[in-house]
Amino acid sequence: MRNYDKRNLFFDELHNQKDLKWLGQNTNHMRSHEYVISEMIKSIKSEEYHSYAPPLGLEELRKLVRNHLGLSNLVSLITDGAVSGLYHICKELCSSGDQLLTTDPTWSWPIHFAQSTGAEVVQIPIYGKEYDYTLSPNRLKEYVTEKTKLIYLVDPNNPLGTCFTKGQILDIIEIAKENNIIIIHDCTYKDFADDHTLIANYYPNNTITVWSFSKWLGLAGLRIGAIITSEKIMDIIGQYPPNILGSNIVAQRGAIAGLNIKDEWFPEVFKTQRENQKNVYEFINNTEDFEIPIYPSNGNFVFIEINDPEITPEAISTCYAEHKILVRQGNYHTKKFGNKFIKVSLSVPKEWADEFLYLFPTIILKARNKSEIFQLF
Ligand SMILES: Cc1ncc(COP(=O)(O)O)c(C=O)c1O
Repeated sequence: MRNYDKRNLFFDELHNQKDLKWLGQNTNHMRSHEYVISEMIKSIKSEEYHSYAPPLGLEELRKLVRNHLGLSNLVSLITDGAVSGLYHICKELCSSGDQLLTTDPTWSWPIHFAQSTGAEVVQIPIYGKEYDYTLSPNRLKEYVTEKTKLIYLVDPNNPLGTCFTKGQILDIIEIAKENNIIIIHDCTYKDFADDHTLIANYYPNNTITVWSFSKWLGLAGLRIGAIITSEKIMDIIGQYPPNILGSNIVAQRGAIAGLNIKDEWFPEVFKTQRENQKNVYEFINNTEDFEIPIYPSNGNFVFIEINDPEITPEAISTCYAEHKILVRQGNYHTKKFGNKFIKVSLSVPKEWADEFLYLFPTIILKARNKSEIFQLF
C-alpha cells in the first residue's frame, strides 16, 4: 500500500472510532456555543450552499477578522483553514533560489510546501534548555543570508508552547527590515497565549499573518482560516487564491457567529484548558524520567519530555491508541528532536485529560516493553 493511502487509512480509522479522545492534533473539543451551531444550521436550512461564496470571503467576515485582530488597515482573505493559506503563500512567494528560514521544531507542512517549489528551507534548532525553547533574534541573525526571502514563525510555537515577547518581536523585525524579508507569522494558537504581539502591527508591509478558526473556535473539520496582509502582498497572493470560488459558506457563518460570541464563550475554554495543563504538569513533573519544560504553555497543548532511553514516543502513542486516546509522537514535528517528546492537546473536556493522567503509569510500564509499534502519522 502507498504511504499516502496508509496515512489516510490511519486518520479514517481515527474518525470512525466515535469515542476516541483526541489529544493529538490541538483541536478543540469543548462544546460549541449554541449560537454558533444555530447559525450554521440556519445556513444549511436556507440552502445557501447551492451557490459559491465570494472569492476572498464574506465581506462581513473579512472585516470582523481584521477588526478582531486590530489590523483594520490591512487586507484579509478567508482560506480553507490556515493550512491552505500557508500552501498558497509558499506556492506564490517561493521559488528555486529562494530560502525560507524557520525553526526546528516548527509546524512542518509549510516546509514541504516551500521545498516543492524548489526553494531551500533552513531550520534553526530551538529545542533544548540552551535555547530556552525559543528563537533568539541573535541566532536568527546568524542564519540570514542574501537568499533569505521568507521567515516562517509559528508563534506560539507548535509543539513547544513558547511565545515571543514583544522585545523579541521588535528585534526580529529589525533583522527582517534590514534584509527585506517577508515574515509569515503563523498565529494559529495566539488565543491561548497570555500575551501575544502581532508582528503586523510593527511591520505591516512585509508581514503575512495567518490565523485559524480550528483551534480557538473548534471548527477544524469545517476548514476555515484567514490571511491578513498588506495590499502590496495581497496584490500577489489575492489574484488567484486556490479557493477562488469561495470558502465553505457554512463554516463562514459559524466563524462570524464565533467572533460575535467570543468574549462570552472563549474565556471558559481558556480556563478549562489551563486547568487541564496544570493537572497534567503537576502529575508529570512528579513522575520520574518525565518533564514538562514549558509551563504554562501558550498553546492549547503541552509537550512531555521523556528521559528514559527505554521508552520511545511512538511506544507511548501506540499504547494510548489501544485505550482510544490519541497523543502525538514528537517525530510528527521534527526528525531531529522527535525522539525526545510526546505532545498532548488539552482543549478537551476535563474527563479526557484526567483519563490521560489516570492511565499514564500503566502506559509507561507497557511502553517500556512494547515491541509492536503502530505506524503513526
Ligand atoms: C501552526 C499551525 N498552523 C496551521 C495549522 C492548520 O490550521 P487549520 O486547521 O486552520 O488549517 C496548524 C494545525 O495544527 C498548526 O499547528
